[in-house]
Amino acid sequence: MLSRPIGPQGRLIVALDTPDLARAEALAMQVAPAAGLLKLGLELFCAAGPPALERLRARAPVFLDLKLHDIPNTVAGAVGSLAPLGAAMLTLHASGGPAMITAARRAAELAGAARPILLAVTVLTSMDAETLGAIGVMDSPAQQVLRLARMAMDSGADGLVCSPREVALIRDALGETPMLVVPGIRPAGSAAGDQARIATPQDAVAAGADWIVVGRPITEAADPAAAARAIVSSLPR
Ligand code: C5P
Repeated sequence: MLSRPIGPQGRLIVALDTPDLARAEALAMQVAPAAGLLKLGLELFCAAGPPALERLRARAPVFLDLKLHDIPNTVAGAVGSLAPLGAAMLTLHASGGPAMITAARRAAELAGAARPILLAVTVLTSMDAETLGAIGVMDSPAQQVLRLARMAMDSGADGLVCSPREVALIRDALGETPMLVVPGIRPAGSAAGDQARIATPQDAVAAGADWIVVGRPITEAADPAAAARAIVSSLPR
């Protein structure tokens, strides 16, 4: 299993959000020297499948962000199919519950020492108090994040995906144990895009993020390699 980075090196995860494997590979080639991992999400995996993972893994370790959520047996089966492909990180929805997370952990362990880090997604950052109410959750987003975070860690998750504004909350409640992967990162001065709750790379790491996920500020830069390098060299030591 990949261990958490101790300095700036390895902390940056570059999100390759494109359905086009050739474009993803071209970007991967440019950013891999600065990136700790490359994030392969549903868009590319649905378009290109396991060969996408194989091709990107030749450049850097891969964060496979498929946010699995189904009955425990099905999720265990999916993890069993994915783990041998060699992803370094894999996501699942904490709201699938303790039995689902435990089943995923057991299935991941069958991959041995090289098993992926299992990360639980708590409350999607696209959901606010009103959307939570619409699915029957009357607690605040922060309360729901902490409830799911505790449950996921108790059930066998290695870490959590969380927004910059939740990092300090989770560190206060759960300490150093969870590995924290944090998207919603914008270098000072770059466009927010559709991200509402953002932080700079430096602030996210200072608050306790182990890895930061950055997509468009790198992939849409005129020079993606330079943009990735600049982010890594801005991180606290
Ligand atoms: O382009 P940008 O930097 O906004 O990309 C961030 C990446 O992190 C995207 O792949 C997005 O789906 C993902 N993500 C996020 N917020 C979350 C979870 C994942 O932005 N809460």
